[in-house]
Amino acid sequence: MVTLQSKYTTLTKTKADMLTVFVFEDKNIYKRQIKNIKTRLKGISAPLDAGIFSGKEQERLMLYPLNSASKRILLLGLGKAEKLSLEQLRRASAWAAKAGTDQKATTIALLEPDPDIIAKTTSDFGDSVWGNIGIALAEGAALGLYAYDKYFSRELKKGNTVKQVTFISENKSRAKQIAKGVHIAQVICEGTYLARDLENAPGNEIYPDSLAGRARESGRKYKFNVTVFDEKKIRKLRMGGLLGVAQGSAKPPRFIVMEHKGKNSRLGTVVLVGKGVTFDSGGISIKPSANMAEMKMDMSGAAAVIGTMQAAARLKLPVRIVGLVPATENLLGGAAMKPGDILTHYNGKTSEVDNTDAEGRLILADALSYASRYRPDVVIDLATLTGACVVALGNYATGMMGNNDEMMHRLKLSGERTYERVWQLPMFDEYEKLIKSDVADVKNVGPRWGGAITAAMFLKKFIGNYKWVHLDIAGTAILEEAQDYAPKGGSGVGVRLLIDFLRYWSKD
Ligand code: BES
Ligand code: MN
Ligand code: ZN
Repeated sequence: MVTLQSKYTTLTKTKADMLTVFVFEDKNIYKRQIKNIKTRLKGISAPLDAGIFSGKEQERLMLYPLNSASKRILLLGLGKAEKLSLEQLRRASAWAAKAGTDQKATTIALLEPDPDIIAKTTSDFGDSVWGNIGIALAEGAALGLYAYDKYFSRELKKGNTVKQVTFISENKSRAKQIAKGVHIAQVICEGTYLARDLENAPGNEIYPDSLAGRARESGRKYKFNVTVFDEKKIRKLRMGGLLGVAQGSAKPPRFIVMEHKGKNSRLGTVVLVGKGVTFDSGGISIKPSANMAEMKMDMSGAAAVIGTMQAAARLKLPVRIVGLVPATENLLGGAAMKPGDILTHYNGKTSEVDNTDAEGRLILADALSYASRYRPDVVIDLATLTGACVVALGNYATGMMGNNDEMMHRLKLSGERTYERVWQLPMFDEYEKLIKSDVADVKNVGPRWGGAITAAMFLKKFIGNYKWVHLDIAGTAILEEAQDYAPKGGSGVGVRLLIDFLRYWSKD
C-alpha cells in the first residue's frame, strides 16, 4: 500500500511532486481563498485571472509557483461548503490522488481543508474533528489508489505511480490530531486492501486451503490466533452444510477460526462470521455462464472478516473478537450434492437442498450454530448471499436483517460514519412459511420474490441464544463499475464498517 504520513509545516515549505489545495465554490469563500493563495504563492496570477477555475467539484487548476518547495500545486474544487462532509473529503482526497497519478507523481501532499470552513460546517465530524478528517482524507487517498495488478506482466502493469501521500497541517495541534487519524487509517486501509486482494484473486489462487493460509499468515504477522479445521475435523464436528456444499469439489473445505483476545473482558465477545465460498458455480443447479467469473468473489464476507481481524489486532482493540469462516467451493460433478438431498447441520437441524445454488446459507448455518460456543454478546455475519439483495438495493447499500434493534442501530450509525451504509429489510413472521419443507426442518430456497429475506429467515433457524445481525453484501462487495475510491471488482466492504462498530463498542 502507499505510505501515508502527516506533517506540521506550511504551504510553501511542503516538498512533494504535487501539493493539493482544496478550494470551495461559494463566491465569498472562493474569493478569500484565492486572495490568500495569491499573496502566498508567487507568479501564479495569470491562470487564476483567466476565469477557467471556480472551485466546482473535481475541477482542477495546476499552478507552478516560483516560491514553493513543491513545483506543482494543484487547486482542486471541493464544491459548495454546505456539502462538506467526511465523505466529501474522502472523495476529494481520492480525486487528488488520481490527479497525482495522472501527473506521474511519486510523492504527493494534501493541505488540510480550510479550518474556518470546517469550524463553521453544520456537518457532523464526530467528537475528534481533525482526527476524523485525518482518517477520511487518508482513506480516500489510499483506497482510491488501490489497483489489482499483480497478474499483469511488467509492461502492462497499470499500477499507480504515487508511493507516498503526506497530509499537511499549518497548525501544531491540528497536525497532531491528523497524525493520529492517519495512523489509524493506515491500519484500517491495509485491512481493506487485504480484503480486496483476497476478493480479486482468481479461484485458482484462492481456494479453501489457500484462503486459510492467508488468514494464518496475517495472524502470525499481526498476532492474532488462527486455527484451521480440515475436512476430517469438520466431519467430526458434523458440519453437514459445509460438507454437503464441498462434496462436488476436488479441493477440500476448511473451517477457519480466528481470535483476537482483547484486554478488557468486561467488553464481552463479538463473533464475526464470513461466507467463504471461494467460487460459486451454482453446483448442479448451475448458474448461467455470463458473469460467472464474478463468483470468485463469493468469499467477500470471509475477506471482510479476515481484514477486520487483522486491523483489530493491530489497533489492539480491547474487546475480544472471534472470526469464523466456513470455506468451500461450490462446484458440480459426480460426487456433488443434488437437489432433494437432505443435510444435517452442526446443531442437528436438517435442511432440504431444493437448489444447490443457495449454498451460502447452508455453510453459514453450521458456522452460526457453532458461534454459540463463544457465548457471544453479538454475532454479525457478512455474506454475498443473494442476487435478490442486489435487485433490492443495488450497489450503494448493504442489506441488513437481525433480531436486535440496538445492534442494528449501532451498525446503521457505523455505516453512516464510514459511508459503508446498511439498510434494514424486514423479517416478518409471514416469510417463514415460505421456506417450509415437506421432508426436513427447513428448505434452502423460497419462492422468487423476497429472496434476500427468505435467505435471512433460513439463517435465523440456526442462530443460538444471542443477538444477531446479518449483512447481505452481495451488491456492495462486488462492483461492476468503479466508485469514487473503489475500482471495479472487490470493494473490501465490511472492514471499515466493522472496525468502526468495534471501536465504538470499545468505548462503552
Ligand atoms: N453467491 C450467490 C449470490 C450472489 C449473486 C452474490 C449475485 C453476488 C452477486 C448465492 O450463492 C446465490 O447463488 N444465490 C441465489 C439464491 C437462489 C438460488 C435462491 C440467487 O441469489 O440467485
Ligand atoms: Mn450460489
Ligand atoms: Zn454463493
